[in-house]
Amino acid sequence: MADTVKIGKAVIKRTAALAPMAGVADRAYRLMCKRFGAAYAVSEMVSAKGICYSDRKTAELCTVTDEERPMAVQLFGSEPDFMAEAVKIVLDYRPDIIDINMGCPVPKVVGTGAGSALMKDIGLAADITAAAVRAAGDVPVTVKIRSGWSADTINAPEMAKALEAAGAAAIAVHGRTRDQFYSGTADIGVIRDVKQAVSIPVIGNGDVTDADSCMRMYRETGCDLVMIGRGSYGDPFVFEEIEARLSGLTYKPPTLEERMSVMLEHIRMMLDMSPKNEEMAMHEARKHAAWYMNGYYGSAKFRGRCYQLSSYSEAENLAKEFIELQNSRIDKNNAKNS
Ligand SMILES: Cc1cc2nc3c(=O)[nH]c(=O)nc-3n(C[C@H](O)[C@H](O)[C@H](O)COP(=O)(O)O)c2cc1C
Repeated sequence: MADTVKIGKAVIKRTAALAPMAGVADRAYRLMCKRFGAAYAVSEMVSAKGICYSDRKTAELCTVTDEERPMAVQLFGSEPDFMAEAVKIVLDYRPDIIDINMGCPVPKVVGTGAGSALMKDIGLAADITAAAVRAAGDVPVTVKIRSGWSADTINAPEMAKALEAAGAAAIAVHGRTRDQFYSGTADIGVIRDVKQAVSIPVIGNGDVTDADSCMRMYRETGCDLVMIGRGSYGDPFVFEEIEARLSGLTYKPPTLEERMSVMLEHIRMMLDMSPKNEEMAMHEARKHAAWYMNGYYGSAKFRGRCYQLSSYSEAENLAKEFIELQNSRIDKNNAKNS
């Protein structure tokens, strides 16, 4: 397996990338995933029209810092002219790649004809892509799609071919239909079919949560890069695990203390980067704290307490208490076994 994948002029390590996730994968999240080895990251989706009307959130969403590179800014829209205009504005932020969202299932986006609604109009999807490609100059334009709109209209391979012809430099495929939203399991076979249909790189996405599922995605689809969304919730370490597997190294998962220390650092970053005051910013950090505590003894109760956090020092105290609880369990078990 090659060590890197080339998307236009962008060179990406062939390990695993972080998927775009609006409301989740903000700069702090991306930086944390990058630190543990995410090969590539994509911004939260940004409205092409919103950018053209100089939405106040544009700079916050489109800024690409050097630590996040290689990184794409992702746009959604349903009109080629607005898309082209938005691409020109986004170029000022010097993204490595511009990605177009043609997979978002939410009614607010689909209702405007954008996101996965474009799976139902391949002609328009190709026109939007061609307009973006023309406006982007030498910056590669990629498109993220789903397997289709519904189970009886799976058309990702046909869509991917049209987008390749329109100038797309790569296609990311989430192996679910729009109708599935996030339920059921991702269909790996569709991703393989897309890979066989086009000659540009294909990024496989859906249900990858660890090194085993990542290897399966590479093996069964032949994709050029794997992309992880929810599997990185509270677990930026997943990228390190995958990198270790691909390099044939033994992976040593973080201790609970290390995990909690990364959680606190993640929260600190979120608070420092937020324009909001500590209490308001902490509201956004709560879910991340809860995710980092997943899978341990008593974590349901602690996750509930994460949703009450209103300051960094409360998060520190909760992490301490969580570690004490886990350690006391280990002590009890040792006493029992001795
Ligand atoms: C909270 C959330 C927000 C998302 N936001 C975006 C987005 O802004 N753009 C996009 O293309 N996909 C978005 N997605 C879809 C993910 O990128 C990904 O395709 C999907 O979660 C399947 O991958 P996974 O099983 O690894 O999570 C989002 C998913 C979630 C759960």
